[in-house]
Amino acid sequence: MSAKKPVNTESWNADFAVLMESRLGSLYRRMMLRRSRFSELLADKEKRIIDIGCGYGAGLAYFRSQGYRNLAAIEPDAQLTRDIPASMSVELRHCRAEKIAFPDRSFDAVFVYGILHHLSGFDAYWAACDEIDRILKPGGFVFIIEPGRYWVILLLEPIFKALGLFSRTFKAYGRTMDEERTEQHFFLKNHGKVREYLLKKGFRVRVDDYLVYTWLFTIQKPAEKG
Ligand SMILES: C[S@@+](CC[C@H](N)C(=O)[O-])C[C@H]1O[C@@H](n2cnc3c(N)ncnc32)[C@H](O)[C@@H]1O
Repeated sequence: MSAKKPVNTESWNADFAVLMESRLGSLYRRMMLRRSRFSELLADKEKRIIDIGCGYGAGLAYFRSQGYRNLAAIEPDAQLTRDIPASMSVELRHCRAEKIAFPDRSFDAVFVYGILHHLSGFDAYWAACDEIDRILKPGGFVFIIEPGRYWVILLLEPIFKALGLFSRTFKAYGRTMDEERTEQHFFLKNHGKVREYLLKKGFRVRVDDYLVYTWLFTIQKPAEKG
């Protein structure tokens, strides 16, 4: 698919925008990022960071607010990135995680926040993992934050639907979950295989945890020998 063709529907993008505006969404993001140990592992603010599937740029804005200035991103849906301000000085490319338009060993850290569960099955997961490995410097970190607990999602789906009767945020959340349900449920049931695939590459685990339904997986690429 062309990188210029929108990957998301108009309605998904509109609902996603509602989520990005919500205080709950931004609190949850901050909590997850803290749990991923990113500020401890990336104490040097000069480190070069890429946000994979940056969406409207909420992650990038957060990194910038924390003092990181060396930021890059990819996002296949050009509609979403239109309003990322030039003042953020993000090196942005419109492409997919399965084929990342940056050279080998470009980054000290790769952020993957809510992306893998949008991909279409194993081949796409492996391609994205290979690309993430390729663009990462030896010793660099990957921060994966994705849905991971299947039974919790099954429990929460009807609760979110009910809350959606009263709350605009939960209404939007319920609708995005409906749209991405097939891919999301496949990822939830199979994310363990993504863990195995990355571990086989020799990555060292720094965080492997679950919070509510979210899987937090922070790993480090082996440093170069000699
Ligand atoms: C749940 S949003 C997360 C956005 C952003 N990471 C954040 O934290 O706000 C999922 C994002 O994945 C993007 N996406 C979908 N398919 C993708 C792919 N194959 N490669 C990279 N990003 C993709 C969507 O366009 C959307 O921006």
